[in-house]
Amino acid sequence: MIPEIRKLNGIDTLFVNDEPFFCLAGELHNSSASDLKYMEEHVWPLLQGLNMNSVIVPLYWELIEPEEGKYDFSPVQGLIEQARDNQMKLIFLWFGLWKNAESMYVPGWMKKDTQTYFRAEKVNGERMTTISPLCRAAVEKDKAAFRQVMRFIRSFDEKESTVIVMQVENEIGLLGTARDYCKAANDAFEAAVPEKLTEALQLPAGTWKEVFGKDAEESFMAYSFAKAVEEIAAAGREEYPLPCYANAWLRQYPWYPGSYPSGGPVVEMQPIWRATAPSLFTFGPDIYVSYVPSIMDEYHADNNPLFIPEVRKDAVTASYCLYAFGKHNAICYSPFGVEELNMDPDAIDKPPMEVMIALNIDPSAFDIAGSKEYVAAAYKLVEDMKPQYLQYRGTSHMQAYCKKSETDFGAFLEFEEFDLQVAYAPRIPFKPLGAGIVYELEPNKFLLCGMMSTFTFMPKAGENVKIDIVKLEEGHLEKGEWVSGRVLNGDEKMMLRLGDVPQCLMVEIYKY
Ligand code: DGJ
Repeated sequence: MIPEIRKLNGIDTLFVNDEPFFCLAGELHNSSASDLKYMEEHVWPLLQGLNMNSVIVPLYWELIEPEEGKYDFSPVQGLIEQARDNQMKLIFLWFGLWKNAESMYVPGWMKKDTQTYFRAEKVNGERMTTISPLCRAAVEKDKAAFRQVMRFIRSFDEKESTVIVMQVENEIGLLGTARDYCKAANDAFEAAVPEKLTEALQLPAGTWKEVFGKDAEESFMAYSFAKAVEEIAAAGREEYPLPCYANAWLRQYPWYPGSYPSGGPVVEMQPIWRATAPSLFTFGPDIYVSYVPSIMDEYHADNNPLFIPEVRKDAVTASYCLYAFGKHNAICYSPFGVEELNMDPDAIDKPPMEVMIALNIDPSAFDIAGSKEYVAAAYKLVEDMKPQYLQYRGTSHMQAYCKKSETDFGAFLEFEEFDLQVAYAPRIPFKPLGAGIVYELEPNKFLLCGMMSTFTFMPKAGENVKIDIVKLEEGHLEKGEWVSGRVLNGDEKMMLRLGDVPQCLMVEIYKY
């Protein structure tokens, strides 16, 4: 059974070997996977103990087609074999024509032939390191290579389904200019917007300027990139129809297209991407900003399944993980540079400030003090609660919360017979934030899962009753089974509290 996205109780869900699969993942640093021996010695051992079930790993076009038309699939095969040995599933990143708004990973023979494989240009004619998405010859070559890669993966892996999802290209767009001004791009920009697009978006016909006004440049780039990616993804999926998606460098400060890659699948451009690239099942955000939950809220709107291929890896990421699955039915959650979580924070060679500035990444996003324990516990919790999660998600019996800002003090959750006031612990450096998932197992029995929160059960409005605890238990879930620990009916029941490490409480209450 080929991995696929299927609706389960109306929710887009990844199925692997015919079972729902939630990617508790981590993405590797860009260059880790370019050497199988390095992976064996320095990376796979570091992925132990994090309770991950999948890894996001690049495939580099330049290594797969070092000579034009001659393919070498040994890196692909090697990574699949290593993943199997480590009982992990793989999400491959196709580093083809575009990576972080440049053409970093195209084979040398293509990089050097700037006549055939022409570059995007700025308004002053300056040629960029990005091959133009209007360059047919380049798109054809990428398409052919991706097709071969997918054919190989099918032949080597269809029975086992080690590879479960493909990301096509990486953080596409143009940096430093809102649009491509090469000749082919200028000609296309002056022409009418393709009818298929205006019809899909229910817009009047006209040129890009007439139809999209001040957003014309970015919209034109979004269409041009989406069209190229659609061709590439569709060719690959003809060989092996694994779920494919594209990821986005967020639209963020200083907000103008070109300060973030212009034409990438940011929320504002998704209608164009969706209409143009139907082979992609979603557009995933790479989240390094401090307002992670708001980005999840945005990227899960409009029926866009939430797939987070890259996210910050400081301690707060454990909280955001629970929010991703609990609130937004995430398919994947994946801190970036995950191999570092198992390292001594002082031993890590942090990217120089220039690189962080160029990538517009908040440096605290890479501060891993404490993260390992919190991420491992959050991942274990999500895995262990799978039966409850599958039973209750999408219903009012499962509700999630997360501290979204300094001024967000708590949540008020309404259940059938009781309401629940949740107060978040104040933010503490290198600790997670208040976050959790509450299951109403019976009208008076609740499973509280999460961290940095205290709880007060309340009667429904207008009810003249008081509430007390029948039984409060600490414990944990094992494959959905509650394994109880101490009964906390003494002093502890005066405050229902989850500490910093993701954990569970089972509480039965009554009214009197
Ligand atoms: C986002 C990119 O998609 C990743 O490949 C990587 O460059 C990170 N930024 C930052 O290191």
